[in-house]
Amino acid sequence: MHVALLANLQKNAPLLPGMSSDMWDDLDSEKTIEAITAALESGGHKVTFLEGDSTLFDNVRRLKPDICFNICEGHFGDSREAQVPAILEMLRIPYTGSQVLTLALTLDKPMTKRVLTYHGLPTPQFQVFERIHEPINDDLVFPLFVKPSREGTGMGISADSVVQNEEQLRTQLRRLFDRYDQPVLAEHFIEGREITVGVVGNLTTPVAWRLPEDEEAPRVSRGLYLLPPLEIDMTRYPDEEGGIYTSRIKTELAHEFHYLCPAPIDDDMLEELNWLTAATFRVTGCQDVARVDFRLDANDGNKPYILEINPLPGLNPEYSDLCIEARAEGWTYEELVNRILNEATERYGL
Ligand SMILES: Nc1ncnc2c1ncn2[C@@H]1O[C@H](COP(=O)(O)OP(=O)(O)O)[C@@H](O)[C@H]1O
Ligand SMILES: [Mg+2]
Repeated sequence: MHVALLANLQKNAPLLPGMSSDMWDDLDSEKTIEAITAALESGGHKVTFLEGDSTLFDNVRRLKPDICFNICEGHFGDSREAQVPAILEMLRIPYTGSQVLTLALTLDKPMTKRVLTYHGLPTPQFQVFERIHEPINDDLVFPLFVKPSREGTGMGISADSVVQNEEQLRTQLRRLFDRYDQPVLAEHFIEGREITVGVVGNLTTPVAWRLPEDEEAPRVSRGLYLLPPLEIDMTRYPDEEGGIYTSRIKTELAHEFHYLCPAPIDDDMLEELNWLTAATFRVTGCQDVARVDFRLDANDGNKPYILEINPLPGLNPEYSDLCIEARAEGWTYEELVNRILNEATERYGL
């Protein structure tokens, strides 16, 4: 097949006056594009890279690929990850991964948390602030974790994201409003281990509320392939990072990533995290691939809380969480990439 690889390369991103230095931290490196291209080629496909910006509409229409491998994070707008899928649907060109509504929803952490809460899935208690002096809800309990509503890759996240009192909260709100110009999410701070679970596949029945009760049931369950969970080994990072998976760890320190994969957890916890991952995948309407980030509450018997779901998880072959998990499962990088593609081609009946 002819596959168009659609991404936003860091080096092609527009430079604007007064832009914050982390503005394009979530975009892809040439190395990742080269690796995905080689992987798809090893699957027997012809691959053409197209930048997912305003040139895409004409370029993809001219190219007429059989399918697009989409990993575009977008440049501007509060639903920027949904823009490329919207164009592709307008042009009726198939693509990998989640669709418009899911990508718009999951980029917005508070909206996602509202959907999770509606379905009774555990996510930290929260409040969204649109102004610095907005009153604090009575039921919101300090310490809080304060982050931008619609960013990723640790943008705006540092040890200062944990606030103990109102004064610290207001300082952090001011900082994030100035820098990211969007509503700020304040959540209950979950002290404890941090685990992320990757998943490849698609639900073959609408019932993913529970994974099979049967403990002997295979891990390939109802169309979803749950990868071994990865724990971020916080003990091996500088104390200044405050036990948080910060922007600095995700960018500057990405090459010396410290992790445990498979995470050392017991079978019950594994079952629970897998079930929560499948349920989150389902209620947010994900397709083909995703990764769910959890924190286990050390103050409440390691109760897992869902922080977010990433329907466009990083695919850097060396250090992206999903790629490490696939490796731990015995999949090569080529296998991971081609499985994602195959999930999409099957959906479209190509
Ligand atoms: N409520 C919370 N309690 C404790 N730590 C949190 C909380 N929310 C986020 N974090 C920390 O911040 C990191 C990034 O938050 P996350 O919501 O996953 O955003 P991103 O899109 O940047 O990955 C998490 O991996 C975790 O270390
Ligand atoms: Mg995250």
